[in-house]
Amino acid sequence: MAEPTLRNTPADSLTPDEAARELAALAAEIAHHDRLYHQHDAPEISDAAYDALRRRNEEIEARFPELRRTDSPSMTVGASPAAGFRKVAHRMPMLSLGNAFAREEAAEFIERVQRFLNLKEPPCCVAEPKVDGLSCSLRYEDGLLVLAATRGDGAEGEDVTENVRTIADVPKRLKDSPPGVIEVRGEVYMDRTEFLDLNRRQQERGERPFANPRNAAAGSLRQLDPRITAGRPLRFFGYAWGELSAQLAPTQWEARQRLKEFGFALNEPAERCDTVEAILAYYERIQVLRPSLSFDIDGVVYKVDRLDWQERLGFVSRAPRWAIAHKFPAERAQTRLREITIQVGRTGALTPVAELEPVTVGGVVVSRATLHNEDEIQRKDIRVGDQVVIQRAGDVIPQVVAVVPELRPEGSVPYVFPHICPVCGSDAVRPEGEVVRRCTGGLICSAQAVERLRHFVSRDAFDIEGLGEKIIREFWNEGRVRGPSDIFRLQETNGRDFPRLEEREGWGARSVEKLFASIEARRRIGLDRFVFALGIPQIGQATARLLARHYLSLDRLMDGMEGARTIGSEAMGELLSIGGIGQSMADDLIAFFHEEHNRKVIADLREAGVEVLDYDPPRVQASPIAGKTVVFTGTLESVTRSEAKARAEALGAKVAGSVSAKTDYLVVGADAGSKAQKARDLGVTTLTEQEWLDLVSAT
Ligand code: IVH
Repeated sequence: MAEPTLRNTPADSLTPDEAARELAALAAEIAHHDRLYHQHDAPEISDAAYDALRRRNEEIEARFPELRRTDSPSMTVGASPAAGFRKVAHRMPMLSLGNAFAREEAAEFIERVQRFLNLKEPPCCVAEPKVDGLSCSLRYEDGLLVLAATRGDGAEGEDVTENVRTIADVPKRLKDSPPGVIEVRGEVYMDRTEFLDLNRRQQERGERPFANPRNAAAGSLRQLDPRITAGRPLRFFGYAWGELSAQLAPTQWEARQRLKEFGFALNEPAERCDTVEAILAYYERIQVLRPSLSFDIDGVVYKVDRLDWQERLGFVSRAPRWAIAHKFPAERAQTRLREITIQVGRTGALTPVAELEPVTVGGVVVSRATLHNEDEIQRKDIRVGDQVVIQRAGDVIPQVVAVVPELRPEGSVPYVFPHICPVCGSDAVRPEGEVVRRCTGGLICSAQAVERLRHFVSRDAFDIEGLGEKIIREFWNEGRVRGPSDIFRLQETNGRDFPRLEEREGWGARSVEKLFASIEARRRIGLDRFVFALGIPQIGQATARLLARHYLSLDRLMDGMEGARTIGSEAMGELLSIGGIGQSMADDLIAFFHEEHNRKVIADLREAGVEVLDYDPPRVQASPIAGKTVVFTGTLESVTRSEAKARAEALGAKVAGSVSAKTDYLVVGADAGSKAQKARDLGVTTLTEQEWLDLVSAT
């Protein structure tokens, strides 16, 4: 530790011998505090005191450069691991659910399943409450809880094992001979009364109350200190599973009973329903029960009961075909519209926002709502000062649905939508036939640039912690970060081209170090995330994944897009053969990758050391058709065409619409037409339906 008299001696007055001793002491002390902070989340000293140590170290090094140690703290910035939870890949993706709002949509779900499976009767379904919490996957090996992970993006979540261990409802050891490996999935939530008690305690301690039980549950689970989680009234319902070493039961209903026998609480009341009428009656019943349940729900879930049918139905992008959420109607409230502001998005779209007198809607305080676009304001004749009806459904942004004309103040005037961008002053234009007015400022518009950067670092894209909206805006204004690659040069430009971040108001060496570490951790990124991060119009996360899965590497993707510029080219055919990509998306993709500026962004990122990893497909069981291109033709007997296609895709094959030299198998049903002939001409292997079934059931 430091010698007291030395620590107070100005750097200039130290002898070389004393300076060397001081530097050794500082290196040890700073390393000690780093460990406490990063690995134990238990700092002993304030940020200011810590910064003072680092500054002292730097001053002495500046005075005696020849004495700088190899383990000097000034050399180790960014080396410590980012604080937070460890990321864990889910062995099986954690899916979300498709939504139905109207009764007809629930009925359509049942019909869809019936058609897909070619059933004579509607399928029996389990109906259960849809709990409003956050989903979690609990892995048990030999009956013991070994891992608990949040859903995250569905493919990768956060390791919250220590926190989940503190939840009384979660068995640490399963009862009743469970499978050797079982991942139980379900919802972490908070009871309503316990939530109110918690909020009362929060307020008594002068801390901020939570908006609703769901936020309270999420905030409590994601505490870095499990002791805090332990003090929160969290609960858990089990309703699904991931990896299993042995099947639980033949049906969802019986599987639920098994979960109960293992020691889990179930979300009740659940019911088995054989008809559309029965599921709708269940929906009505739960809606009536809703206020008397001890926990928040936002709808009900229907799940096909037979698990072999669930298996056959599989899933589309991120939701199973065998289940759907039937949501309760949105909650509404009335309040006054104070002002209409305009937000400029990443693509320059001008979105009108209602600034409201705060009002509680379904337990949440709302002060802003979307007004959608120019036409909607005009259609509903929404004016500043109006009394308006707003509605909120689940996590969806609240919206203004109507005005109350009787309460309109005198002298109000119709709203005039601006024709210039409120941020950069460029013209905002609205092409013929479109509803959205857009700023034409492109990258000179700070709003667009900042929004693009925000998207770039967002959770499903580069997922860089510590770069919030405010900081990005500040960095942009300073010129420190103007494009994505500047983020990966922050450490290099810090203190060279721009003032040192460590000296910024409210920052310290540690926060800078943390930021750099989280940027470093993202220098290598998967192709799907990268494509999503680029913010290509219309290309969301699911489509980005489809593209990654098809092209596998960034270079192949970019070559493909360049080739697809020629209408009728093979590359264009290839792009359009990807299920889920239509002409309009294809146009946006091609235009994006052709645009000089976008190519430069990608080149700059690579130059700044970003490495885009080739797509690593999720492990499907070794399958004889993985990576093969399959075409179906004619009528199949035992399964519907959609089911055959879904099964092929689930086993890693690509399903194409027409036969070409790239086709590996043509599966020929009854009444096959010209495709069979073409396949013979090209020498493509043709399979009968039975041969196909034998091939895929071998897995
Ligand atoms: S089943 C593959 N059942 O709702 C299907 N989910 O909106 C996995 N949820 O991510 C989910 N109650 O967090 C299922 N009874 C229930 C549920 C439920 C709530 C949540 C779950 C899911 C989300 C989708």
